[in-house]
Amino acid sequence: MSSTVRIADVTKHYGHVKAVRDTSFELGEGELVALIGHNGAGKTTLMKLMLGLIRPTAGSIEVLGDNPAAGEFGGRRQLGYLPENVSLDAALSGRETQAFYARLKRENVPKALALLDTVGLGAAARRRVGTYSKGMRQRLGLAQALIGHPKVLLLDEPTTGLDPELRQTFYDVIERLAAEGTTVLLSSHALTELEERASRVIIMNRGVKVADGSIEQLRNIARLPTRIQLKVAGLTPGELPSWLPAGAPCRRLNGHLIEIDAAPERKLELLHLATSLGTSVEDVDVLPPTLDQLYAHFLRHAEQTA
Ligand SMILES: Nc1ncnc2c1ncn2[C@@H]1O[C@H](COP(=O)(O)OP(=O)(O)OP(=O)(O)O)[C@@H](O)[C@H]1O
Ligand SMILES: [Mg+2]
Repeated sequence: MSSTVRIADVTKHYGHVKAVRDTSFELGEGELVALIGHNGAGKTTLMKLMLGLIRPTAGSIEVLGDNPAAGEFGGRRQLGYLPENVSLDAALSGRETQAFYARLKRENVPKALALLDTVGLGAAARRRVGTYSKGMRQRLGLAQALIGHPKVLLLDEPTTGLDPELRQTFYDVIERLAAEGTTVLLSSHALTELEERASRVIIMNRGVKVADGSIEQLRNIARLPTRIQLKVAGLTPGELPSWLPAGAPCRRLNGHLIEIDAAPERKLELLHLATSLGTSVEDVDVLPPTLDQLYAHFLRHAEQTA
């Protein structure tokens, strides 16, 4: 896998504000990477650095083999960007807006207009943008970012304002692009929807990268317990099964469910115990740590070691 983006020891200060501190990572072709972190963690700053809109205070950035802040940066046409606050000309129609951006990028206009259908704006394409709903403006912003089949696609909170159906379409579109080799970096606060989509997650905290890896890798590092939920017959209220080994924290969730916190290395042993007991265990659910829980863990860890 070759790298399309290289961030090496990058620091960005805005006056006294340290927006990004000594951060390094590379992004590869075909990766779909989620960039997450609290408000002000440095996500948008990182994207603007990759676009060459701002320059780093220290460190170096390479996008598609070049410095994006250099005047003659040749990769700009192969970069797609959806800003976090899309500002569009209210007087233009969707079609006019899309054609305008296609010409700006010197890309094929009919192909760019076809993207309006991809994002579900076909029917409204001739209406003025000023009459669009928030979600429709977001769709148009996305269509604009997709112009020219970018090699690197930077999406800053792309699903804000999208309805569930378009969210699905949106992820289908970017997964297809990633499968064709596009590097997709998307920042978001919607962690649950990223869980099954992102091949990798980068967590930022106060300008510092605090975790970077696939969800599986982050789970291995964090070593948070897997929750095993059992539906057990014949227990009195508040009673816990006698076969539960010591050192496995557990609780009653409602009339029937028992929830056990299983350390990663004890998960199989506990499951085996539970399912070998014949009829008293009627159902089992195994819930590995969610991205929400991993995120909270890494932030807590970063704050404790800071
Ligand atoms: N132009 C600027 N001038 C001064 N400070 C800035 C500027 N842009 C960003 N900052 C500061 O840099 C820090 C990082 O901001 P950034 O926009 O990168 O955060 P973010 O992770 O995108 O947050 P959010 O989730 O709210 O979008 C914040 O403290 C912010 O106030
Ligand atoms: Mg931001």
